[in-house]
Amino acid sequence: MDRLKDKIAIITGGASGMGAAMVKLFAGEGATVIAADINEENLQKIAELDQVEGMKLDVSSDENWAAVTKAVVDKYGRIDILINNAGISSEKAPDQITEADWTLMHKINSFGPFLGIKHASKYMKEAGKGSIVNTCSYTAIIGSGFNHYSASKGSLRAIARAAAAELGQFNVRVNTVFPGVIETPMTATLTEYKDAMNMLVNATPMKRLGKPEEVANAILFFATDEASYITGGELVIDGGYSAR
Ligand SMILES: NC(=O)c1ccc[n+]([C@@H]2O[C@H](COP(=O)([O-])OP(=O)(O)OC[C@H]3O[C@@H](n4cnc5c(N)ncnc54)[C@H](O)[C@@H]3O)[C@@H](O)[C@H]2O)c1
Repeated sequence: MDRLKDKIAIITGGASGMGAAMVKLFAGEGATVIAADINEENLQKIAELDQVEGMKLDVSSDENWAAVTKAVVDKYGRIDILINNAGISSEKAPDQITEADWTLMHKINSFGPFLGIKHASKYMKEAGKGSIVNTCSYTAIIGSGFNHYSASKGSLRAIARAAAAELGQFNVRVNTVFPGVIETPMTATLTEYKDAMNMLVNATPMKRLGKPEEVANAILFFATDEASYITGGELVIDGGYSAR
């Protein structure tokens, strides 16, 4: 119940899917949670929970990050935890991808987490501690999804490893999870493609998709002091898909 007692946590993409599951879990474990998202309507709903505040943030904006991290430190004194979780996806085939598609995807999925680390780590370094966890994707590891989404997640993986190497000396940890297909609004349309879905489930050793809470639980571990000597950690959460 108290694994995050008195911690101040920012969770991006906290208004939906896995981010919303993390917001609920972290608040239940005693943290004060700032759900940061671009979707104001969903933010209002999640901010009704105890110990949760909603803050509008476009993760691809340097100015937004500067303002949100400053507002959190001004109000709560510090940032103990940052979860870089906000993201967008696409199933576009390579021959359909435009430069604008590529740029937007990377701006949100890779530049966004980079900016989060840049701004939050400034305060974490001053405090002499901090935990950052990134939601990447198994597409950064396996040869699946030859498109701009996988590329953006591969970029995030490299950023996370470099940040872990750089920030360890300041007692700021950076870890990353790699979910397989998880049942969230992002993947809701996939269920319309019954054949593809059956193939995916059959190819998954655990014979099912993942649930947002199953990713949130793993991220919680990295966020807590229980993981005090883990940085640069990478955890696949995909029901065994990438182990085949
Ligand atoms: N669902 C999956 O199968 C799956 C698998 C692997 C990785 N992921 C990753 O997990 C993360 C969460 O995805 P989800 O499935 O919960 O999706 P989701 O669509 O339910 O939630 C994503 C959230 O990110 C927010 N967001 C989008 N652009 C933003 C921006 N510019 N600034 C701030 N917030 C923004 C959205 O408003 C939304 O609330 C994403 O990074 C996604 O790439 C998802």
